[in-house]
Amino acid sequence: MDFCIRLASLEDIPKLTTLIPESARALQAGYYTSEQIKGALGTVFGVDSQLIQDQTYFVAENNHQIVGCGGWSKRKTLYGGDSGKNNPEDSLLNPDSDSAKIRAFFVHPARARRGIGSQIMRVCEQAAERAGFKDVEMIATLAGEAFYTKFGYQAIDRFEISLPNSQFLPVVRMFKSFAPSP
Ligand SMILES: CC(C)(COP(=O)(O)OP(=O)(O)OC[C@H]1O[C@@H](n2cnc3c(N)ncnc32)[C@H](O)[C@@H]1OP(=O)(O)O)[C@@H](O)C(=O)NCCC(=O)NCCS
Repeated sequence: MDFCIRLASLEDIPKLTTLIPESARALQAGYYTSEQIKGALGTVFGVDSQLIQDQTYFVAENNHQIVGCGGWSKRKTLYGGDSGKNNPEDSLLNPDSDSAKIRAFFVHPARARRGIGSQIMRVCEQAAERAGFKDVEMIATLAGEAFYTKFGYQAIDRFEISLPNSQFLPVVRMFKSFAPSP
C-alpha cells in the first residue's frame, strides 16, 4: 500500500480524534476489555497537541486519509492525550541524561500489519537520535508490545494505570539504547 509520512498539524486533530478510538477498539480487543479501552480513550489514548507543536508527531496518509499516527517526545510526559495530562508544564528533557519518549502510535485497523507503524517508528527514532538522545523509552500497551519488541525495545517494568472509570490498564515500560549492541 502506498502511504506517505508527514508531520502532523493542529488541523489534523479532528481526524486523529476519530482514528485513535477506531484503532484502539479493534486492535486492542484481544488485550483489553471494552471497559478498559473506554476508560483509556481520551485520557491515556489521545492526541497530545504539545507533540504537534514541537513537530515531533507524524501521520501516515493514503489518498488524503490519515491511516496511522505516532511520535516521539523531548518532554517528560510518558503518555496521555491533552485531557489526561497531569503535568501541564511538561518540561524539556536533557538529551545527555534523559531518554526520549515514544508516544501514541495508532494505525487504522484496516491498514494494520502493512508496515505503517514501522515506517513512523523509523522516522521517530532517526529524529530523536538527531536531536542528541542516546536512548528511548515508552509506556506501551500490551497490544503494542510485540511491535516494539520487533524494534529492539525491552520490557523493563509492568504496572497498571488507574482509569477515570475505576478500571485499570496493564501496561509495560520499554527501553531501547541507540548504541550498537556489543
Ligand atoms: C502497534 C501498532 C501501531 C503497529 O502498527 P502496524 O502498522 O500494524 O505495524 P507494522 O505493520 O509496521 O508491524 C511491524 C512488525 O511488528 C510486529 N507486530 C505488529 N503488530 C503485531 C501484533 N498485533 N502481534 C504481533 N506482532 C505484531 C510484527 O513483527 C510486524 O511484522 P510482520 O507484519 O511482518 O509480522 C498497531 O497495531 C496499533 O495501532 N495498535 C493499536 C493501538 C496501540 O495499542 N498502539 C500502541 C500504543 S503504545
